[in-house]
Formats: sequence, C-alpha cells, structure tokens
Amino acid sequence: MEIVILPDAAAVGAAAAARIAAVVRAKPQAVLGLSTGSSPLGAYAALADLVRRGELDLSRTSAFALDEYVGLPLGSSQSYAATIAAEATGPLGLDPERVHVPDGAAADLEAACEDYERRIREAGGVDVQLLGIGTNGHIGFNEPTSSLASRTRIKTLAPRTRQDNARFFGGDLDAVPLHCITQGLGTILDARRLLLVAQGEAKAAAVAAAVEGPLSAMVPGSAMQLHRHATVLLDEAAASALTLRDYYRFTADHQPAWQRVG
Ligand code: F6R
Repeated sequence: MEIVILPDAAAVGAAAAARIAAVVRAKPQAVLGLSTGSSPLGAYAALADLVRRGELDLSRTSAFALDEYVGLPLGSSQSYAATIAAEATGPLGLDPERVHVPDGAAADLEAACEDYERRIREAGGVDVQLLGIGTNGHIGFNEPTSSLASRTRIKTLAPRTRQDNARFFGGDLDAVPLHCITQGLGTILDARRLLLVAQGEAKAAAVAAAVEGPLSAMVPGSAMQLHRHATVLLDEAAASALTLRDYYRFTADHQPAWQRVG
C-alpha cells in the first residue's frame, strides 16, 4: 500500500485529482469509481479546476457510485444520486448517461444490486475507485463485520454511521435512512486501483486500523491490504495515529522519479 502524508486537506484533494487525471489521460474512456460524503469534495474541486482550465477531459469516462440510501422520499436532495449529480457529474463534465448510482428506490432491491454488478462488469470494471473511510472503519457502506468477499447488496447502516451522517440531514438522526445499497468489499477490491482519501483527526483511528491493523471484517477498510494497487492520501491530522508515519515520509522523500504522479 502507498501511504502519502500531505500538509493539509487541499493537498489531499489535489493529489487525488492528479492520480485520477493520470488514469484518464492514459485511458480517456476510463471507468471511475465515485464516492460521496465530505472526503472526496477536495478531489472533485481539484478535478473540476483541471477540467475548467482545459487540462483534463472527463466527458468520455463512465462512473459508478459506491452506494445509495434506501427509503428516502422520492427526489430527495440527500440521495447519493442527487449528490453525485451536483458534486461530480456537473462540475466534472461527466456524461450523465454514463454515471451510475445504485437504485435505492427499486421495487426489487436484490435485483437492483445484481443489475449494478452487471453494469460494472459490462463497463469493463472500475479503473480507479475513490474511497473515503467512516469513523468506524467502513468503506462504501460496508459496516464492521461485512464479508471481505461481499458484493453489491442491501446493508443496515451502523448507528455510528447514521450519527455521523445526520449532519447531511440537518442534524435530524431520525431522517437518516436505516438501510442502503452498497458495493461489497469484493466489488471494491475488483477495481484496478484504490484511492482512499481521509482528512481530519476524527478519521485517525480508523485510518490506522485500516492501514496498520490486522486484516479484519471488524475494520472493513483493512480489506485494502489485499489490493495490489492501493493508495492512501492523508492530511497530517488523519495520519496522526499511524505508527510508521516517519517511514511513510521517508518513502515519499526517496520516491524514484519514475514513480511520481502530479
Ligand atoms: C460514501 C461512502 C462512505 C464515506 C464515509 C466517509 O459514498 O461510501 O464510505 O466515504 O462514510 O464519509 P465522509 O467523507 O462524509 O466523512
């Protein structure tokens, strides 16, 4: 795993954007894995800047979101479909026809999960998956004890996740759905590259457990340890609980030129 400690959240966003841009410049029809929440916003802002300046064209890419709430009122602005449209599709100049979000309003949710897996497969698989991590160690909405081999399915959100996400619902915990559809850990691990971004001290314990702790379903983010091409971009605060912080800095300081991105 490549662990990069950066001075602040803006640098994390810029570094994530540089890595995604490198993938798309090499493959203009790349399949992007998108995530929602606060963590990827800096990356989206930095990507939007590159697009605005004409340095990057994302119009030929496809995109798949990690997850979606189940049980939200129709047309809710808190849905991840609405969030992805506002924060990614528009600002990044993605083709809305090729931006996919699991259908949390489907009459047959299990069929919707299978259909999502099929669509990812038919698109050729995800080239680069952007991830955030929950304070309880989840990636996607794979809550602790999720199977390391899991595929897209319906999950019950952990109480901690609902509390953390109440801020997106005006602080009203009761308004946060109980259920979601999420890509599984097995689905996420099929992506060709993983790019996890984390900012702030609230994420420090989860990051340390995922990166340096034992591989465990109790810390779903630790599944990244199984991936051959996983990068973790952290600001100082999110990196503060890592035991090998000095080694990661040493590695970055001595990175061979051919390995550098951005
Ligand atoms: C969102 C997702 C989640 C979030 C995580 C962190 O699509 O899959 O795993 O990345 O809950 O959320 P934030 O970034 O809001 O702290």
